[in-house]
Amino acid sequence: MSVDPAEVVNDFRQAFNGQSPPLIARAPGRINLIGEHTDYHDGFVLPAAIDREVLIAAGPRDDQTLQVLATAYNEHATIDLRTLRVAGVAGKTRWTDYIAGTAWALGEAGHKLVGANMAVRSDVPIGAGLASSACLEMAVARALCANSGIPWDAVVMAKLARKAENAFVGVQCGIMDQLVSGIGVAGHALLLDCRSLTVEPVTMPVDLSVVVMDTGIRRTLDTTEYAARRDACTVALRVIQERQANIRTLRDVDLPLLESIRQKVSIAAFRRAAHVIAENARPVQLAAAFTIGDWQLAGKLINASHASLRDLYEVSTPELDLITDLAKDTAGCYGARMTGAGFGGSAIALVTSDAVKSFISHVSAAYRAKGPSTGEVFACQLVSGASILSV
Ligand code: GLA
Repeated sequence: MSVDPAEVVNDFRQAFNGQSPPLIARAPGRINLIGEHTDYHDGFVLPAAIDREVLIAAGPRDDQTLQVLATAYNEHATIDLRTLRVAGVAGKTRWTDYIAGTAWALGEAGHKLVGANMAVRSDVPIGAGLASSACLEMAVARALCANSGIPWDAVVMAKLARKAENAFVGVQCGIMDQLVSGIGVAGHALLLDCRSLTVEPVTMPVDLSVVVMDTGIRRTLDTTEYAARRDACTVALRVIQERQANIRTLRDVDLPLLESIRQKVSIAAFRRAAHVIAENARPVQLAAAFTIGDWQLAGKLINASHASLRDLYEVSTPELDLITDLAKDTAGCYGARMTGAGFGGSAIALVTSDAVKSFISHVSAAYRAKGPSTGEVFACQLVSGASILSV
């Protein structure tokens, strides 16, 4: 899929007196192959940017405002660049918070922004675990930088977009989503070290495809539950640090060390930390399995990740468990797991390319027969990170 640039150009013309937009920025959503809930423990992840994206047509204004039309919400908003400040996190996040937050983070970093007219379109399903908010932030950053003559550095901008989400929107996410949306490489997944921010592109074998299985269940508890998982890990970490002061994060902990404090923490804290430690080894192992062409091993790792997220981190849902089980029972599938934060949203399956069509129709029908009638199953392409399109 992907949004047709002509549509966002049309939106811009209609919203802004028939003017043509001087620029179009895009930023993709992502799947994560493995390494879930490891990024905010400084760990490893293996995500890829996908062909579902946010497009923004933009052009300068004389005043210090952003005038934004978002077709997804059929809403128009005015954001005043002179009065942006963190208001304290309360209540429901609005789509404008991601835009205002990104402008705020750019300002905090010392960048002088030019006012802008913007039309925004997206085909990344919202709340489906495919990083709809991170790619909105990155598309806004890309558009505002181009509009204001600020040089683009995808890693620096991913850090600013994460800051927007942490401090302005109030979700304590890691860096994975913003980073892969910024630096994705076509045809590749990225092995990211979230401590050093080093990146190793991993070629996606042509005979393998990634299929996204959106359960249609939208996340509701994500903010509080996400924070609760993080807090439980911090409890285990503090106890470990009392014994070994050199430990910085759970990334530095191995299972025997965690085992040594088992009696000192709750069962829940122990399980959350056990997930992170085991999961953190899997991105490197999956990248190696791709390199040597061992799809069976790749599938086993993906299935083990799902089991750990379901049983230890407890962020899966009955629908995610159902759709991954259906996928695993379908011909051509090597493995399946939930992707992203969980609590609803999407799973992914690793499928032999020859079988993708039959896999999609079989899993869609079986899920509809046993689960909610919403949801969507589709193959995705792995694409490059945020960019400016020629108009
Ligand atoms: C969300 C967050 C990411 C990451 C994942 C879980 O997508 O934005 O930073 O923590 O959840 O792996």
